[in-house]
Amino acid sequence: MKPLRKAVLPVAGLGTRFLPATKAMAKEMLPVVDKPLIQYAIEEARAAGIEQFCMVTGRGKTALVEHFDIAFELEDTLRARGKQDAFKLLEGTQVEPGSMVTVRQQVPLGLGHAIWCARAFVGDDPFAVLLPDDLVLSDTPCLAQLAAAYRETGGNVVAVTEVPRAHTNRYGILKTGHDDGRLVEVRGLVEKPAPEDAPSTLSIIGRYVLMPEVIGELARMDRGAGGEVQLTDGMAGLIGRQPFHGLRYEGRRFDCGNKAGFLEAQIAFALKRPDLADQVRAFLRNYT
Ligand code: G1P
Repeated sequence: MKPLRKAVLPVAGLGTRFLPATKAMAKEMLPVVDKPLIQYAIEEARAAGIEQFCMVTGRGKTALVEHFDIAFELEDTLRARGKQDAFKLLEGTQVEPGSMVTVRQQVPLGLGHAIWCARAFVGDDPFAVLLPDDLVLSDTPCLAQLAAAYRETGGNVVAVTEVPRAHTNRYGILKTGHDDGRLVEVRGLVEKPAPEDAPSTLSIIGRYVLMPEVIGELARMDRGAGGEVQLTDGMAGLIGRQPFHGLRYEGRRFDCGNKAGFLEAQIAFALKRPDLADQVRAFLRNYT
């Protein structure tokens, strides 16, 4: 079994749900408390043993690349002023030289197409996919849980959670096989089924460990839900050929792709911060 060392982060989306904030700014740069969504994803990947990163970007997304570069002027100024604390805050933005690459998805043809754009980076290796919109608050980082499940099963693993039946049309949904309460065998996958057509209410969240063969499936460029090339459909092509499991991860997921989820994440993450928790708890009393 090949070790999991690579991660693909699709970040080409226009962020229309957060306009006007995202008119001139990548939505993945939106902060939860004081850290941009993209940095949470990179830190989570690193904690799972990932060493190589590929961001699938698009026009207007250069801030994402800048964020993981050295900022000489800023760092020199902080050093000269003796601002060690501020300097320390930049630690999570430093990546090993040469460990981060970007490819462009020139046209918004869907998540599956975005992943296919990273095919040269993926090569013949297993790889993780992290959608930075999904934030998971957990004791063990979500991707590390998936990586452990990959070592256990030797195949594809997606993070899954139960959703209300009325919401199945927002997610990739599993058709389930053997289920031990933690790992569930994937028998089928459907992207955004109507509630009445959904084979279960177990939905995929934005964390995946995939085998490189998924790229061959995506290369067919079949159009699925919403007329887009769907990652879910590409993954469905692997079922029966390779082990494929859903992992009920430990932790709480926040959908930062919608406003209420994003706001809830601010509160939940702030309440975990020793420097903020008391103040936040105190002001929240004004709103109940
Ligand atoms: C994507 C995937 C979907 C998955 C979801 C998780 O959908 O296509 O299968 O359940 O992410 O957040 P999107 O949110 O891009 O519509």
